Amino acid sequence: MKRNVLGPANLKEGDLRGYPVGKRNVMVACVGGKMKALDDWCNHAGCLLSGGRIEGNTVVCPCHEVGFDLDSGKNVTSPGICDDQQRYDTELQDGQLVVIDFPEV
Ligand code: FES
Repeated sequence: MKRNVLGPANLKEGDLRGYPVGKRNVMVACVGGKMKALDDWCNHAGCLLSGGRIEGNTVVCPCHEVGFDLDSGKNVTSPGICDDQQRYDTELQDGQLVVIDFPEV
C-alpha cells in the first residue's frame, strides 16, 4: 500500500480541506470524529469538492450542488448527472494525516 502524508492531523469536526498530492488533490472531511477522503476533483466538471460544504455525511460540490456520501463516494443527490466519486482510506501516523493508495501522478 502506498501512503502519502498530507500534513498535521489538525482538522476539527466539520472541517473540509483539500491537499495536493503530486498533480492531483485529495479532499478530507472530518465528520463523526473520522477523517473521510474523496478525490477533490468532482467528476462532473472538475470543481474542487473542498470548496463545497458538508451536510450530514455528504459533501456538496460548490459548482452544481451534487452531493457525495463521505463514506462511499456515492452520488446521493443527482445520479444522472455524474458518477460516484472515488474514496480513499486515511490513517493517523505520528500526528500526521495519511491517505492510502491515492493515485499520484
Ligand atoms: S463540478 Fe461538481 S457538481 Fe458540477
